[in-house]
Amino acid sequence: MELHILEHRLRVASIAKESIQLFTYGLIKLAFLSSKTRCKFFSLTETPEDYTIIVDEEGFLELPSSEHLSVADATWLALNVVSGGGGFSSSQPIGVTKIAKSVIAPLADQNISVFMLSTYQTDFILVRERDLPFVMHTLAAEFTILRVVNGETVAADDFGVTNGFVKPKLVNVRTFLVPLAVSALKPLFCALLATVNVVLFCFFRVKDSVVGNEDSGHIRFFSFSLIEGYISLVMDVQTQQRFPNNLLFTSASGELWKMVRIGGQPLGFDECGIVAQISEPLAAADIPAYYISTFKFDHALVPEENINGVVNALQVSQAEKH
Ligand code: ARG
Repeated sequence: MELHILEHRLRVASIAKESIQLFTYGLIKLAFLSSKTRCKFFSLTETPEDYTIIVDEEGFLELPSSEHLSVADATWLALNVVSGGGGFSSSQPIGVTKIAKSVIAPLADQNISVFMLSTYQTDFILVRERDLPFVMHTLAAEFTILRVVNGETVAADDFGVTNGFVKPKLVNVRTFLVPLAVSALKPLFCALLATVNVVLFCFFRVKDSVVGNEDSGHIRFFSFSLIEGYISLVMDVQTQQRFPNNLLFTSASGELWKMVRIGGQPLGFDECGIVAQISEPLAAADIPAYYISTFKFDHALVPEENINGVVNALQVSQAEKH
């Protein structure tokens, strides 16, 4: 299997809920006028706490510097496992379940912090740029490691550095569930219009007349990403109804996913092993899962019908730790 180290140099930032308006121009440009920017990697996720942005250096320039924008201090690189097939329709293990053993666990064992972003198309494993030598050293046995340079994949050299990090801190794992749908957009103009509409509504609360009220009483989660030309959306079923029928690619069975929210307190960026604690038991129980890290918390997406299995697998693994 190949592991690609992508060339985007990424920043992870958070916009305070009440300050989103300050960033409207930059965010709309990044999401819908990407030809006017040099940005190739942009993701925006709304949770009840904040808006998390993952964006390359070029895209970061589109955002005004402001006290309302908190930026994680590291620069992150995205890794991508390439194994042919994949996508939601594949019968292969998918998402973090597929990479739990080969990528997530070895990195956690070496105390290397990761930041996950699953999309409809693939799963990006973000690592800090400064950890790259350790990452390559750790994964070289399992993968052919290639670096993307100017859009071309070339062999990457192993820096051969040994690791000496401190042990990860233990974190509380607390779970919440929200029904979600994950989709990719059909590359049509009307799909784009519908997305503009939904994104404007979701991120900026631009009122429209079709569906009046704010959904209340459930945990909000909406994620939009535009990465190398591919749009991916993760949203709850209420939001999905805002799209005209048949515009979205969802998995063939149209299954719904539940979200397991991880972290009683903000997880920070230095702790490691959190993704591993969740993805390893799920992989062992053969449960597919996607995983989205945000500025404060982590989120695992699991098939709705597996929810009992998920709760069991996670409870058993927690119990074994104590
Ligand atoms: N660094 C954690 C790990 O290696 C995952 C990210 C948690 N932090 C966050 N802000 N979401 O498992």
